[in-house]
Amino acid sequence: MAVHYKNIIANELIRKALGEVVASKKLKSGLHSEVFKLIKTLPVKRQSEGSPQFGIKTTDLSHHFQENVKIPETVGEGIVSNEVEDSVYFRIDPVSFAQTVLKSVRADGSNYGHRDTHQPPQCVCVEFSSPNIAKPFHVGHMRSTIIGNVMSNLYEAAGHDVKRANFLGDWGTQFGLLMLGLQRYSQRKRVKADPLQEFFEVYVKINKDVKEESGERPESSSQTYQEGMSLFSKLEKGDPDLRSVWQEVRELSIAELDKMYQRLGVHFSHIMPESCFQDKTSEVLQCLRDASLLQFDSNGVGYVNVNIQENMGKANVVKSDGSSLYLTRDIAAALERETMFACDRMHYVVEMGQRSHFVKLVSVLNQLGVPWAQRPIDEIHIRFGRVKGMSTRSGNVVFLRDILDEARERVAHSMRDRPTTRVSGTLDAVADTLAVSAIILQDLKSHRANDYSFSWERMLSFKADSGIFAQYCHSRLCSMMNSCGVEAADADVDLDSIAEDVALHRIVLHLARFPEVFETSLSSLEPHHIVQYLYRLCHLINAAYSTCPVKGQPTDVAQARLSVFAGAKQVLANCLQLLGLPLVDKM
Ligand code: ARG
Repeated sequence: MAVHYKNIIANELIRKALGEVVASKKLKSGLHSEVFKLIKTLPVKRQSEGSPQFGIKTTDLSHHFQENVKIPETVGEGIVSNEVEDSVYFRIDPVSFAQTVLKSVRADGSNYGHRDTHQPPQCVCVEFSSPNIAKPFHVGHMRSTIIGNVMSNLYEAAGHDVKRANFLGDWGTQFGLLMLGLQRYSQRKRVKADPLQEFFEVYVKINKDVKEESGERPESSSQTYQEGMSLFSKLEKGDPDLRSVWQEVRELSIAELDKMYQRLGVHFSHIMPESCFQDKTSEVLQCLRDASLLQFDSNGVGYVNVNIQENMGKANVVKSDGSSLYLTRDIAAALERETMFACDRMHYVVEMGQRSHFVKLVSVLNQLGVPWAQRPIDEIHIRFGRVKGMSTRSGNVVFLRDILDEARERVAHSMRDRPTTRVSGTLDAVADTLAVSAIILQDLKSHRANDYSFSWERMLSFKADSGIFAQYCHSRLCSMMNSCGVEAADADVDLDSIAEDVALHRIVLHLARFPEVFETSLSSLEPHHIVQYLYRLCHLINAAYSTCPVKGQPTDVAQARLSVFAGAKQVLANCLQLLGLPLVDKM
């Protein structure tokens, strides 16, 4: 039989299976227990050709044996040492291996593969999404929302206590300009009809005024900008009229955002609006003073020296008029979270462009002795690249909502064109889930720090690697299980009849790798590992349909094959759920 066990990574399950197989081969007892111990501790070497074997290097072995113990050429049936390659190979009995793997998948079900070596469980705060409510929900926020959600899911699945925080951008000088814009340009009925659109248009108009007035000079020189700033300062001082407009903008925006989060299947445990920290400046300054970190320049601007290699400059923490800055509010929020959660880890999922802000923030918190801020900046600021070329039919300014709507429309259109389409529920609802799946998987496909190009065709493909392709694979498994004429057993099934089904053994080996992939994804905070794993799984499943049918087979064969497909379906579902997608069972 020619299973090529490529890309094997050592993992507990493989080692366990090896252990069981070796144990069953009745090795000489002393050697057996040594080998058994080794199997648990040593990395399994990749063996890419020939019969199903795993190997470990004898140099690693001899390290564990007493000196001068020569490893016999044949230490038992199933274990062969190879002097030339300096390795000992374990022949795997594919049937026992499959038995062990499938049993483990069945036993753990929707928790299969979720493991983490950071034990005991930690408290982890993941801050993500954090859109600015007076501005459109742009692509950067979309990526943060998607990536932060998966990170939270991974941590939760591994048993950690996760605080999902949204640092809603509802404060800052841009509000001064928005207030002014609303006074100059807004129409009540347009706000009612579509608040975010109206706020956005107003914001664009007022910024245009600023640009036109300032020309080549700095924006701050324009009359409009000055007026906006003075409105903001009135708002900061608590002017009741401005406060009530701000409150309304905020509420309308949050209602819109909630709809979006619901559609994306994202939730937060803590909404922590930036505005809650605008009056915390004096506390922050006191804290910095107590730690002897606060200094003032000749203009009266307060700052802290930054001690992180990447940026050795100054971090301004208070304006000369005493008002807060973005950084001040972030310091206040971090200190408050410290009191509330005392978390072991903190992650800010924010676009690359804000790197220097986070270098400053982490440096200040590090000097204040906040425990998590002692970690490397890359583990704290979870940065990601840009999306290039995103546009909708109606133009280039992109709201996530428009992208979602257009994706749904396009998917629904393709579904209507496909003669095989069957759905449970309405076609539009399924199309919406598929559209969301497509957007999310396109976003998570490669290293998060990479930029990627947005492509409607690739994203919405039913055939090539895409969210729709993955959901299709899942729904196909569902329908196969419903119509194959046998029931999936929930206990061990005799797998002897599928000893020669290479395509199925490939699936089994891939299933065995999942815990390791999960762990890699979690420790590197890179969701793409799960996505790549998922696509490979879909391809292996598709390949097995034609060579290993279930329907119309003798019962033992049908049962055995079905048990592999059932394991595959479970792991596929686990991947989709970690990535934040609902499961589609018919499409
Ligand atoms: N609201 C900010 C923006 O859109 C992002 C906030 C990121 N998080 C933070 N703690 N600073 O630019």
